[in-house]
Amino acid sequence: MTAKDRITLVQGDITTLAVDAIVNAATNSLLGGGGVDGAIHRAAGPRLLAECRGIGGCPTGEARVTSGYDLPAIHVIHTVGPVWHGGTANEDALLASCYRSSLEAAAARVLRTIAFPSISTGLYAFPKERAARITVRQVIESLDAHPGIKSVCFVTFSNRDRAIYESELQAIA
Ligand code: APR
Repeated sequence: MTAKDRITLVQGDITTLAVDAIVNAATNSLLGGGGVDGAIHRAAGPRLLAECRGIGGCPTGEARVTSGYDLPAIHVIHTVGPVWHGGTANEDALLASCYRSSLEAAAARVLRTIAFPSISTGLYAFPKERAARITVRQVIESLDAHPGIKSVCFVTFSNRDRAIYESELQAIA
């Protein structure tokens, strides 16, 4: 299968997915927040926060792995996306690094099914179309590098987000 064939797209709540790992759009402290971060912590229960406290934070662009606790997902991969500052503060490279680091961490733990939210495109205000273009290309590059990863699912929360990802995926040969 080509890398693109291993990518799926669903619209819905990432906390409901029974995959090897869901990815959290976390904050640098890893101590929870709103958006998908809040939803994941609510669904996973307080043991997730307890494990995150012991990690001691995560730099932007990197990833840390915890258990999924009460989630249907086995693990949570916490990554911290860049805050959008207009595109002049290395945001594109940092966003790509979130996906690369998350899939490196998944491959290192032989996790085979991974689901991503649209990192940085909510509170952190990264333009959605620009983010989708970076994300699709980085995930394809990472899937080529990690043949053990069986599938990556992009989970969109809105119709608009889904249409953006569909358009980016169609643009890839
Ligand atoms: N399932 C899937 N996607 C979701 C869910 C959910 N349950 N909830 C929100 N989203 C989507 C949003 O619609 C957006 O497209 O996740 C994307 C990321 O949005 P945010 O959660 O706001 O994440 P981000 O923009 O990366 O900002 C991260 O927000 O919540 C705080 O602690 C978090 O400081 C961190 C910052």
